[in-house]
Amino acid sequence: MKQIPIGDTTLSVFDDGRGPVVLFVHGFPLDHTMWIEQLSALAADYRVIAPDLRGFGGSAPVEGVLSMEQLANDCAALLDVLGIHEPITFAGLSMGGYVAWQFALQHASLLGKLVLCDTRAAADNPAGVETRLKMAEHVLAHGTDAVAEAMPLKIFGQHTLEHRDDRVESIRATIRNTRPATIAAAQRGMAARPDVTALLPTIRVPTLVIVGEEDTISPRAEMQAIAESIPGARLQLISQDGHVGPLEQPGQVNRALCEFLRT
Ligand code: MLT
Repeated sequence: MKQIPIGDTTLSVFDDGRGPVVLFVHGFPLDHTMWIEQLSALAADYRVIAPDLRGFGGSAPVEGVLSMEQLANDCAALLDVLGIHEPITFAGLSMGGYVAWQFALQHASLLGKLVLCDTRAAADNPAGVETRLKMAEHVLAHGTDAVAEAMPLKIFGQHTLEHRDDRVESIRATIRNTRPATIAAAQRGMAARPDVTALLPTIRVPTLVIVGEEDTISPRAEMQAIAESIPGARLQLISQDGHVGPLEQPGQVNRALCEFLRT
């Protein structure tokens, strides 16, 4: 991992391989390691870049609110510092997808292709906002243990929960080690994120939409609606998979990704 200063903060960044750039943007409250299977598989043919977003993983701490726009601007600043000015493939999972929408809005000239895994275009409803703000208060007061216990049960599909203890435990450790202030700031930022449904028909880059068949956070019907709204987008359903296909079913995800990147 490299420590890369980008303006007012420093990001911890995985950067390997040569060729067309694929930027991997992780979900909440994770870090670049959720893409580990894609990074190793694609580095032979692509330059694969996976930052820990502001506040997450090995990146510098944050306080307050982390807006999705801020995280998208950080991605653009990172590319600039790395000397990358041509359009890239942006692959985002869940919160990484919320960042992708803002990247498409603010930095369209840098967007060559889009991969959206298990994400949403709609904003939260009032109950969803309240749940996020409660979690923010809870982690600040009590730390990350309860979130680390509960969240793997929500994000993983049944197959992973039954057969991949290693994956469940590694995600649990990642969540436990995420700073409470980062979890609170990201929850506040996601609670305030806009509905981007109207953006979808204006996206003009090749797009792959990936969803786990057991995903309950960004369900199949919602992802299908996203794919149908983006002109020419392809939808790939991943079997025996919950919300984190890149970790739960890396073989299926990598096949879909490689085929999409080749064409
Ligand atoms: C994620 O995986 O990034 C989260 O499920 C996003 C969210 O809380 O909406």
